[in-house]
Amino acid sequence: MAAKLKKIFVCTNCGTTSPKWEGKCNSCDSWNTFQEETLVKATTQEEKKKVWQESSAKDKVKRPIALPDIVTGKTERLVCPDAEFNRVLGGGIVPGSLILIGGQPGIGKSTLMLQLALQTPIKILYVSGEESEEQIKMRSDRIGAPSSECLIFTETNITKILTQGQQLMPDLMVIDSIQTLSSPHIDSAPGSVSQVRECAGELQRFAKETKIPTIVIGHITKEGSLAGPKLLEHIVDTVLQFEGDRNYSYRILRTIKNRFGSTDELGIYEMQANGLREVSNPSELLLSQTDELLSGSTVSATIEGIRPMLIETQALVSTAVYGNPQRTATGFDLRRLSMLLAVLEKRCGFQFGQNDVFLNIAGGIKVDDPAIDLAIIAALISSLEDVGVNNNICFAGEIGLSGEIRAVNRVEQRIQEADRLGFEQIFISKYNTKVDQARFDIEIIMIGKVEELYSRLFE
Ligand code: TYD
Ligand code: MG
Repeated sequence: MAAKLKKIFVCTNCGTTSPKWEGKCNSCDSWNTFQEETLVKATTQEEKKKVWQESSAKDKVKRPIALPDIVTGKTERLVCPDAEFNRVLGGGIVPGSLILIGGQPGIGKSTLMLQLALQTPIKILYVSGEESEEQIKMRSDRIGAPSSECLIFTETNITKILTQGQQLMPDLMVIDSIQTLSSPHIDSAPGSVSQVRECAGELQRFAKETKIPTIVIGHITKEGSLAGPKLLEHIVDTVLQFEGDRNYSYRILRTIKNRFGSTDELGIYEMQANGLREVSNPSELLLSQTDELLSGSTVSATIEGIRPMLIETQALVSTAVYGNPQRTATGFDLRRLSMLLAVLEKRCGFQFGQNDVFLNIAGGIKVDDPAIDLAIIAALISSLEDVGVNNNICFAGEIGLSGEIRAVNRVEQRIQEADRLGFEQIFISKYNTKVDQARFDIEIIMIGKVEELYSRLFE
């Protein structure tokens, strides 16, 4: 008897299934993510029996094994020429691992992967379902350094891809992108939840069996019209996210999940006309090169992942002309900006109610570190009063709701980085008690309240 076709609805974000369409997913709380899919199901008695027999036959071969008896094979990591990429993976690519690189369209995922494929002198199978061979050739000419060992295969059928993989046995396989792949065993369109799940499962099996590490590109769209990243996160070993503002050239590669390393790591790149350039010393690039004393511009000693980074913050406070005052922030959470403005109004008596406030983090980099608060407050006051802050001063402190300056983590690392870059003063919280001034040339100024910051800087 033929397999029975069944219609189900699947959440494209998390993969939850439901027999009927639902507006909101009960499992991941996202809206309008359910899509209809056809499920091919073995339902006859004979088929059920066969599946059961197969699984029990497998069970006979595979038995639980004592941990000391497990023999580990070659686990040497594949070290790439790209130091930032190695860092993010925790020291290179682990054999047999499946790595997902997610990011918004146009951010540079294909460029990063092709560059890796061209620069690494190993046999690489680069599978693209998005671009033609000519397009890839043109991109590789742009990047330069063509490697004869990189094989390009434009195909979307997972079975054909894996057949080639098995024949060629490359040292690394790259798939661009998971959303274009399709398995002939499944009825739904490429990019649907069942296709993505099936193909990712196949790739995982292939990688584990052949020990060929595989990197898979996955698109993330805000609308969630393609299969969501959450679904894939469970299947793959490592999830990296490539992010940045398309209007700026800096890109950050972040680890979201890593079975073989820490998730604190961060890689920084700059998109140039001839590909991505590794940025090994971010601080020097994210600081402006001007010597002029500008109001509204301050420097914050932040830590992203585990790397200290000095970032310039710029604020512009101007009189609101049209109706409601505007608040705009690039690279910083708008609600946090509103909170900082409220603290300045309520606790310190500054008036921003009639002003437009614009805030910008240099390089279009998104900063989550709360230690940037103090630099932002200093920039806001500096712009409001139109008095510049000396550019050999930097800041590291979090602001509490009552206007107190709170301690931040890894403060010594921040001070060290500021010291190394030749800053003369750093403002930190007085609650960061274990700091030893004698170890640094930079003058450490400890303050407890925003008023103290004001009197130190502007009076
Ligand atoms: P791409 O890798 O195609 O993005 P994704 O695969 O994430 O969708 O990169 C797209 C952008 O990168 C494109 O707008 C042009 C830019 N780019 C450069 O600036 N320099 C280069 O050398 C290359 C290859 C691309
Ligand atoms: Mg692409």
